[in-house]
Amino acid sequence: MYDNNPTLDPHKPLDESQQGTVYYKTSDDPSAVDPEKGIRHFYIESYGCAMNFSDSEIVASILGDVGFQPTRDVEIADLILINTCSIRDKAEKNVRQRLRVFNQVKKRRKGAQVLVGVLGCMAERLKEKLMEQEKLVDMVLGPDAYRDLPKLVAKATEGQKGINVLLSREETYADISPMRLDSNGVVAYISIMRGCDNMCSFCVVPFTRGRERSRNAFSIIAEATDLYQRGYREVTLLGQNVDSYKWENPDSKELVNFANLLEMVALVHPDLRVRFSTSHPKDITDEVLYTIKKYENICNYIHLPVQSGNSRILKLMNRTYDREWYLERVRAIYRIIPDCTISADIITGFCSETEEEHQDTLSIMRESGYTMSYMFYYSERPGTLAARKYPDDIPLEVKKRRLQDVVDLQMEMSHTHNQTDIGKTFKVLIEGDSKKSDQQFKGRTGQNKMVIFDKKENLKAGDYVEVKINSVTRATLLGEIV
Ligand code: SAH
Ligand code: SF4
Ligand code: F3S
Repeated sequence: MYDNNPTLDPHKPLDESQQGTVYYKTSDDPSAVDPEKGIRHFYIESYGCAMNFSDSEIVASILGDVGFQPTRDVEIADLILINTCSIRDKAEKNVRQRLRVFNQVKKRRKGAQVLVGVLGCMAERLKEKLMEQEKLVDMVLGPDAYRDLPKLVAKATEGQKGINVLLSREETYADISPMRLDSNGVVAYISIMRGCDNMCSFCVVPFTRGRERSRNAFSIIAEATDLYQRGYREVTLLGQNVDSYKWENPDSKELVNFANLLEMVALVHPDLRVRFSTSHPKDITDEVLYTIKKYENICNYIHLPVQSGNSRILKLMNRTYDREWYLERVRAIYRIIPDCTISADIITGFCSETEEEHQDTLSIMRESGYTMSYMFYYSERPGTLAARKYPDDIPLEVKKRRLQDVVDLQMEMSHTHNQTDIGKTFKVLIEGDSKKSDQQFKGRTGQNKMVIFDKKENLKAGDYVEVKINSVTRATLLGEIV
């Protein structure tokens, strides 16, 4: 919870003036399949947000098209990729540590040609500096440059390092059908937009992911339909700010907004659950809330990052809403969808935050009744507005203590909220065996709570069951099939 935990599971989720720089161009179009060597394997490890995990599936598909096969064993990989995150300093440190591990792998396998590529937000942020700092890196690709990967791999095979960190205003990879990595065959991500046009002063994402653009709605529906037909029963629509999704049908000139898109995806099949992330408090409309209410298969759960409960801090953060606006949106959610659950992202110790202002964050958590939060202490990111304008003046111990206050409160609130579920029955989508026992299933309620319950015959992952809750922990509900 303290960090956007980079998982070691290998397959799990610019500056304006620098935009448009291409560091690498190709004239030929070589294939990654070498007839001499046969099939080559790639290993990919992803860090950061769901968007990065989703991108890794696009990367896998691009590599699959040129004959590469995925492997979970880094020791046999011909190509090692790391899809990186820059959101906090710690996220970048983790990546550097992993690169050291890959260096060992490379050394152990002397003789074999092992290529190492850095993808994602850190690639975009550091560009060629990354290659200078990390000698083992053969290629660096930003989030909009993945179509170029086969060419860069071919060049690197010939011993030439390559970089493409060009950001695009159009790229959405709409035509690429992601190769589902490490999937349980039940839940999947669908990217609906890329980039971000908000300029939250603490955030590096607009620099690493470029301008916001929405993906063709028909390609989204086609992907959801295909997933349903292949047995998937839940999709999560992904974007940094899904509420600003906007796509114009080139034929009819009709505009599709996020509420329209949600409805279109909900109509794919009543048994296909729909989730989405992330909503922005300034953009989430009543129309979206009424759409959630209207369709049983759109989950009653909204991730609505607050960041701070204090209006002065929110202004410094450039979040473009204040405390009252946020609380009004929370009230609208509970008014329109009474059993909706809400989660948040929270940052403690932002520049100049006082103890009273920190208390405002604790009180907005209580007033909003979050069932879960992702909580962080502020980490200054080079190049952001906050880094340029506001001194990072809250001592680390204070940031950490405030974070602990927030974590403690959230744990207490999650437990209390879970207790209100005892005795209730929920429709649960089975995702697979529980971690602890193959005699038990795990699955989630529409409100995004994990439920553990004993198996019954003839049930399998992807089935819906009604589960009555008997007891709870802070993180999980325990129940039985009724
Ligand atoms: N687009 C989403 C957030 C994406 S980043 C939104 O606007 O809500 C995920 C979370 O990381 C953010 O919500 C924020 O809480 C946290 N975060 C981003 N930059 C950070 C920084 N510099 N220090 C600490 N936490 C940060
Ligand atoms: Fe970052 Fe703000 Fe965009 Fe979220 S909305 S990605 S916090 S700039
Ligand atoms: Fe990290 Fe980039 Fe996502 S910075 S949080 S991987 S958009």
